[in-house]
Amino acid sequence: MEVEDCGGGVVAFHNVVDIDREFLAGWIAKRRETEPPQFTDNGDGTYTNLGGYTIDAEQALSQPGRLVQIWDDDPEFAQTLSDALLECVKGYMDIYPAARQAVWARMPAHVVTYTEGQSIGEHTDTSVEVSDVKYWEGEIPKATISSLNVISGSLLLNDDFEGGEMRFRHAAKQPEMKAGGAALYPSNYIGMHEVRPVTKGERYSYLQFVGAGPLTPGEIATYKQWDREGKSVWLPPEMLYDSRRPSE
Ligand SMILES: [Fe+2]
Repeated sequence: MEVEDCGGGVVAFHNVVDIDREFLAGWIAKRRETEPPQFTDNGDGTYTNLGGYTIDAEQALSQPGRLVQIWDDDPEFAQTLSDALLECVKGYMDIYPAARQAVWARMPAHVVTYTEGQSIGEHTDTSVEVSDVKYWEGEIPKATISSLNVISGSLLLNDDFEGGEMRFRHAAKQPEMKAGGAALYPSNYIGMHEVRPVTKGERYSYLQFVGAGPLTPGEIATYKQWDREGKSVWLPPEMLYDSRRPSE
């Protein structure tokens, strides 16, 4: 694994894990057969995606797909990806040690798929739009925090596509990612990022957030379920801030 500090909180980890192309294609095809619907039709021309965003039909088509039941068919593969990203989180904390003070949880990971023409515009992974915070002028929201994500990790699973570059507004240099490499970045506004439209083929990445736990009722329920099923939702104690460990 090679570590490339791109500045602005963005760190690229190259050659983290080997991913067999044919295996991946089979895995994606199988997952797509049984994944839950990507959108809820609100009946008024708008749709709500799995991330909680309300979007129109055109946006629904341009948005990437999300494979969320990644442990179902092949737990060994899911564990491999989980372990690979955890290695990157360790490396990230070596560069940004204060991140340890803000995290304990690994949020349930998913795989993002971009087919031709799909992209995601500049955004942060702590946007209030994806949390329970719904406020307008003069009203105090029922929750005053947005999302508890601190570090975001995107592990690229393939590179046999064109376009689909991940770009960070505030990085000193842009990471050029290959299959089996991961970009880690601040989930907040410093790490604002986009994935440009895929122009040929399909782009697959494994996405996980590390932070101070789940927030919304849906997130909490998923987190607890994954915990019960042993799906790597905790950060190992040795990675946490020392003062959190119980004294003997
Ligand atoms: Fe994102």
